[in-house]
Amino acid sequence: MTVLIIGAGLVGSQIARILVEQGERPTLLDQRFQREALAQIVDLEKVDLVEGDILRPLTLSQAICKAGITSIVHTAAHPMLTLGAARDPYAAIQLNIMGTVNVLDAARVHGVKRVVVSSSSVLNGHMAGGEDGGDLTREEAFPRPSTFYAATKQAVESIGHNYAAIGIEFAAMRYGPVAGPWGGPGGGGPTVMFRDMMDAAIAGREAVVPSAALEWVYSKDAARGTVMALQASALPSRVFNITMGKATTAEELAAALKEVFPGVKIRQDKNNVPSSARTKPAEITRAKKILGYEPQFPIVAAMRDYLEWSRKFAPKA
Ligand SMILES: NC(=O)c1ccc[n+]([C@@H]2O[C@H](COP(=O)([O-])OP(=O)(O)OC[C@H]3O[C@@H](n4cnc5c(N)ncnc54)[C@H](O)[C@@H]3O)[C@@H](O)[C@H]2O)c1
Repeated sequence: MTVLIIGAGLVGSQIARILVEQGERPTLLDQRFQREALAQIVDLEKVDLVEGDILRPLTLSQAICKAGITSIVHTAAHPMLTLGAARDPYAAIQLNIMGTVNVLDAARVHGVKRVVVSSSSVLNGHMAGGEDGGDLTREEAFPRPSTFYAATKQAVESIGHNYAAIGIEFAAMRYGPVAGPWGGPGGGGPTVMFRDMMDAAIAGREAVVPSAALEWVYSKDAARGTVMALQASALPSRVFNITMGKATTAEELAAALKEVFPGVKIRQDKNNVPSSARTKPAEITRAKKILGYEPQFPIVAAMRDYLEWSRKFAPKA
């Protein structure tokens, strides 16, 4: 298997690390590599880097042909996800939807067997409609995304299913809010919130937790689930929820912080109720059954792992 990883950020870097640990030499394609941050996660001697924009289809063609790519993992997205798409819907639609179409169509033209894309658990929550209970003769049968970002992810899943019907092995990974080590800009609102909270606790400052439950996933688990979909012998399902398997409440998050940082000062920010707040977590049974996915980083383990990375690499506050 020769893998092209598109997007070398918070999640893409971990996917590269896992493949390198398995003895592969993946190619990473990114419009703007953050080399220092990337080198903290994966040995840059063991990957090939191609600077390029997925909105330029020939760049994709060139990368696929040059390395003889047989599988693609596509993680690139418009910066700051839900917030970024709300600020600049046109750019987010262009990159998230047309960028993915370019990837899928390049795969079709060049005979790439499998394409795994990053979707989001926003599709398990940011929905309106659906009142007509699936009755196709009625207008409100299907729930529709209520944010631009979720709308782009729904389009990507729908388009991917149709490429699957013409021969591409397609899978979409619905990550929960991703937390994890990354030494630069990347991820979405909750990613930044987790980092700020951890960095404050590490520096002995007051750590601020949000006032809502979130169904986090640690970046290493998100990447592992994605690699499992890339390597599964068959994909009888094409959409997989990849989370910690539970919604962590504000109180549980605070208790986890106290376990990792005894004596830490914590403030709950009553005004911070992230749009990704959830009371009912996503079902991860399908990922468990078909991919063998089991989260390895519940919240305390995630915090300990982040702390270990931070001690090695993060600039001292
Ligand atoms: N971070 C989260 O909380 C979260 C949650 C659910 C789903 N996701 C999805 O997971 C995927 C990965 O997220 P992430 O947090 O690793 O993002 P990230 O921002 O850390 O990484 C994305 C990378 O894509 C690159 N990129 C952007 N535009 C590009 C282009 N035109 N051509 C080539 N590369 C380009 C960026 O330079 C960046 O390195 C995204 O699709 C995102 O929607 C993320």
